[in-house]
Amino acid sequence: MCGIVGYVGKKRVVPVILEGLKRLEYRGYDSAGVAYLENNSLVKYRCEGKLANLEAMMDEAYLSPSHIGIGHTRWATHGAPTEDNAHPHSDSTGKLVIVHNGIIENYYSLREELKAKGHTFSSETDTEVLVHLIESFLEKDLVLAVRQALELVDGSYAIGVFWSEMPDTLVAARNQSPLVLGVHDEIGSFMASDIPALLPYTKRVVFLEDGDLAVITEKGNTVFSIHTGEQVERKETVIEWNAAMAEKAGFRHFMLKEIFEQPQAITNTVSGRINPETGEINIPEINLSGDELAAVKRIFLVACGTSWHAALVAKYWIEKWARVPVEVDIASEFRYRNLLVDENVLTIAISQSGETADTLAGIRLAKELGSKVLTICNVVGSTMTREADGTIYTHAGPEIGVASTKAFTSQLAALFLFALFLAERKNTVDAEKRIELAKALIDIGPTIEKELPVIQEQIASLIESFYDCRDFLFIGRGLNFPIALEGALKLKEISYIHAEGYAAGELKHGPIALIDKEMPILSLVPKDSVYQKVISNVEEIKARQGRIILIGSRGDTQLSTLTDDVIYLPVIAEEMNPILYTIPAQLLSYEIAARRGCDVDQPRNLAKSVTVE
Ligand code: G6P
Repeated sequence: MCGIVGYVGKKRVVPVILEGLKRLEYRGYDSAGVAYLENNSLVKYRCEGKLANLEAMMDEAYLSPSHIGIGHTRWATHGAPTEDNAHPHSDSTGKLVIVHNGIIENYYSLREELKAKGHTFSSETDTEVLVHLIESFLEKDLVLAVRQALELVDGSYAIGVFWSEMPDTLVAARNQSPLVLGVHDEIGSFMASDIPALLPYTKRVVFLEDGDLAVITEKGNTVFSIHTGEQVERKETVIEWNAAMAEKAGFRHFMLKEIFEQPQAITNTVSGRINPETGEINIPEINLSGDELAAVKRIFLVACGTSWHAALVAKYWIEKWARVPVEVDIASEFRYRNLLVDENVLTIAISQSGETADTLAGIRLAKELGSKVLTICNVVGSTMTREADGTIYTHAGPEIGVASTKAFTSQLAALFLFALFLAERKNTVDAEKRIELAKALIDIGPTIEKELPVIQEQIASLIESFYDCRDFLFIGRGLNFPIALEGALKLKEISYIHAEGYAAGELKHGPIALIDKEMPILSLVPKDSVYQKVISNVEEIKARQGRIILIGSRGDTQLSTLTDDVIYLPVIAEEMNPILYTIPAQLLSYEIAARRGCDVDQPRNLAKSVTVE
C-alpha cells in the first residue's frame, strides 16, 4: 500500500526522499509526489504512475538546498490515480502540507462541513479533507491543531505533516497504519511507513503505536499521545537488516533473488532453535509457559493471502504431531463471524509484514475474547509482534517482491518448529520420531540449495509451451493441497493468467468440466501416502486430453508415461514436501511472468503490505 517518507536534517531533502520512496516501491502504488520547503515556501511535485515519472520532473529539485520535506507513493482508494489525487495535499493557504496512508472513513461528512465553512477541494481524496480540517484548527500551534483534527477522524491513518510557519518540524501520527521513525545523531531525523526506506541512512528506529503523535526535528523526536497530549516513551530498536539486503545483487528481479535466498532464509528460521541430538525445540520468544501451552485445547490460525496457505499446511502438521484441533481462517472472515474463541484457544496470526489490517483486527478480537495470541512474522517490531503475547520471527530478511516467496517457506519452517514444540509440551511424539522430524527440518534448507539450479533448468524447458496460456489449474492432495493453492496464487499474481488451485479429489466435482486439450493442469505427485490417489486423478485428466505437467519424485518411472512435461524432485521426508514442492511452483510462475514481460516485482493493483481493510 502507500509509502511515506519524511526527512528533516543536514542532507539535501529531495535525494533522501526519492531514494526512500524507491525503496518502498515494492509496497505497490500508482502515483507519487514530494513536497519540501525552499526559502520558506512550499514546493510540490506530483504525478501519475511510477516514480521514474516524478524523478524526470525533478531534475532541478535534486539540487534544492531544502532540508525538510515529505514524499508519498499512493495506492488509490478514494479517487483515481491522477496527479490531482496524488499526495502531498495542501490546505487553502498553501502553507500546510500532508501525506497520508489509510482511510478516513467519515471524510464525506467532514468535507461537507468544511465546504459549508468555505473550504474548496481540488481532489477526490479523503486526505485533502484531513489537511483542511487541520487548517481549520490552526492558529499558532501545529501539534495542537493536528491533535484536534485527529480527534474528529474515524478510520486509519499514518500521516506526515509540515507547515511553512514552523520550518524545522515534521509532525507524524498513526492509527492502524504503520509508521516508523529513523534516528541518526549527525544527519537528522526520518519518518517512513516501512524500514527499507531508512536503511541507507540508519538502523536505529522507533516504531510508533496507535494513538501516537511524534514531533520530529533535526535533533530527534518526541512522542506524545494524540488524545491526552502527554509525552510517552517509545524505545529505540536497532534493525539487523542492511541496505544491501534490500538490493537485487545481480538478479533480474527481487523475486528471483528471493527464491534463491530460500535455503538461507529457512536455515535462519530454524538455526539455534533445534537440538539435533534430542530433537528438542527452543523458542523462548514464544513467551507462553509450558503449562499455558499444555492447556491449549484448540488453535485458530488466522492469516491472509500466501500466509493463509502456510496456515493450511500447518493444520496438517499440528493436528498430526501435537494432536490439537486446528481451525484455519482467512482473517477478513475471522473478524466478522461469531467466534467460539475463549481462554482455552491459542490464536496464531501468520503475517510476513506484521501489519495486515485484517489479521491485526483478528488478533485484537481474539485477545478480547480471552485467547492467547502468538504471531509468526518476518518484520521485527511490527505492530502484530508488539500486540501478540509471543512471536516466532522467521528471520528471512527483507522481502521486496510483492509476491511472497522466502517469507512463505520460512513461515512453513517456523510453523513446523511450532508443531514440534507443541508436540513436545503435549507429549504426543516419542523422542525417536522427534529427532527424525527435527532432522528433516534441518535438512530441507541444504536440499533446496542443491536442487534450485536443477529445478530452474527443468522449468526452462516448459516456458515456451505454457507462457501464453489463458488458464491454469494446480492440484494436490494432503500436505500438498495448500501448495497447489499457493502455486495458482503465485501464477495469477505476477503473470495475470487465470489460475485456480484444487484438492485433487475435488476435480470430479466441477473443475473436470474445464478440461480440454488447451487447459494445463499442474499436479503435485510426490511418492507420499496419497500418491496413488493423485495418480488416479491424473489418469482422469489424461483420459480427457488435458495438458498435464507433473511435479514428482526422481526415479518414479510412471510419471513419464502420463506426460512429457515432468519436473523431478528428490525423495525426502514426506513432512517436508510442502516446502520443497513450493520451489518449482514459484519458479514456473516467475519464468512465465518474466517471459510475458510482466512487472514481476510490482504486479498491477497489488500491495506488499495491505494496511487497509
Ligand atoms: C498481500 C501480499 C501477499 C501476502 C498478503 C498477506 O496481499 O501481496 O504476498 O501474502 O498480503 O500479507 P501478510 O504480511 O499478512 O503475510
